[in-house]
Amino acid sequence: MIPFNKPYLSGNETEYIRQAVESGKISGDGIFTKRCHEFFESKYGFKKVLLTTSCTDALEMAAILVNTKPGDEIIVPAYTFVSTVNAFVLRGAKIVFADSSPDSPNIDVTKLASLVTPKTKAIVPVHYAGIACDMDPIMSLAAKNNFYVIEDAAQSIDAYYKGRPLGRWHACDQ
Ligand SMILES: Cc1ncc(COP(=O)(O)O)c(C=O)c1O
Repeated sequence: MIPFNKPYLSGNETEYIRQAVESGKISGDGIFTKRCHEFFESKYGFKKVLLTTSCTDALEMAAILVNTKPGDEIIVPAYTFVSTVNAFVLRGAKIVFADSSPDSPNIDVTKLASLVTPKTKAIVPVHYAGIACDMDPIMSLAAKNNFYVIEDAAQSIDAYYKGRPLGRWHACDQ
């Protein structure tokens, strides 16, 4: 059988698990959580990193933070992982699917404007398989129509758009 994916292992995992256990704190926010925060902030220039237990949880937090309410419209790619959409469906939002571009599974930015209405609360660009969405037109459309941009960068560590790390396009970071 061909495995769906094969995790990358650097060789230090068992030693790090031993250190975590010996530190006496194996819940979140221990020494390795802090090391991850520092790594992501220094390597990619994120202003503030907060490690979550999963991208599903990060998306749930984002949906809460933008105050998603029933009737809000959220634009998401038609091709993505289910968590991208669930976070907003669970809060009663109406999902507006954006079709893929002809050359990648990512949102076709040329068709986005027609999906925006006065009820649009946010767009969730997904950088599928590390392929960067075309962020410039997405950010311009969001600024013009005053809605949030919530990047789903679950598949995009160490991937870039015009030299800028993916996951760093939130409006507050402009
Ligand atoms: C695009 C995308 N978003 C969100 C998720 C959810 O991530 P997690 O499994 O960490 O909850 C995944 C997982 O594969 C994903 O591919």
